[in-house]
Amino acid sequence: MLNIAVLVSGGGTNLQALIDAEKNGILKNGHIKLVISSSVDAYALQRARNNGIDSFVLTKKEYANVDDYSDALVKKLDEYSTDLVILAGFLTIFSKKVTDAYKNKIINIHPALIPSFCGKGYYGLHVHEAVLASGVKVTGATVHFVTEECDGGPIILQKAVNVLDDDTPETLQKRVMHEAEWKLLPEAASLFCQGRLIIDGKKVHIKEEM
Ligand code: GRF
Repeated sequence: MLNIAVLVSGGGTNLQALIDAEKNGILKNGHIKLVISSSVDAYALQRARNNGIDSFVLTKKEYANVDDYSDALVKKLDEYSTDLVILAGFLTIFSKKVTDAYKNKIINIHPALIPSFCGKGYYGLHVHEAVLASGVKVTGATVHFVTEECDGGPIILQKAVNVLDDDTPETLQKRVMHEAEWKLLPEAASLFCQGRLIIDGKKVHIKEEM
C-alpha cells in the first residue's frame, strides 16, 4: 500500500474524487494519508476532516522565501513517508528542492489538453476563459508528472471534452471537472500505485494490469 499526500488550495473537488475512488476500490494500492493546503480557507481542508485525513496548512507568507517553504513541504511529506504526491489545484510555487526530493513521484491535474492552454498564468478559470476566447471545439484535462518545468512533465493521461456554443468559463470548468478531471486523477493515481507507469523520456507507457 503506497502513502499518498494531496496538495490543495481550493474547493477540493479533485481531492474528493480521490477520497471516493479509494473508498470504492478504484484507487488500488494507495492510501491518502495527508492533505497539505496552501490556504487556510480551502474547503478541501473540510473534506479532509470529514474523512479523518490528517491535514496541515503551509502558507507561503509564513516563510522567508520559496526555498524555506519547499524545505517545510519536503519535511512534512517525509514525516508521512509519502510515496506519491498529488497536486490537486495546488497554487503555490515550490522550488526544485521538492521535485528533486520526490523525482517522478509528483503528479498534477491540469484542466486543459497540454501543451495547449498551459504554463504561467493558466490556472483555474483563466484556462477556460482562454479556451473560449480561442474558439477551439475541444478541450479537456491532462494528468502529468511534475518536473521543474511548469506543466511540462511527461503526460500520463488525457481526456477530451467538447466545448459548447453557449459555454461560459464556469459551465466549461464544471464539465471538464465532471467528465475528465474527476475520472483521470484517480485513474492515474491508481496506475502509479500499481507500479504500471513507465517513464520513457517525454513519454509515459502504461503496463497492462497483471
Ligand atoms: C481544478 O480545475 C484543477 O484542474 C486545477 O485547479 C482546480 C482545482 O479544483 N488544477 P478543486 O480544488 O480540485 O475543486
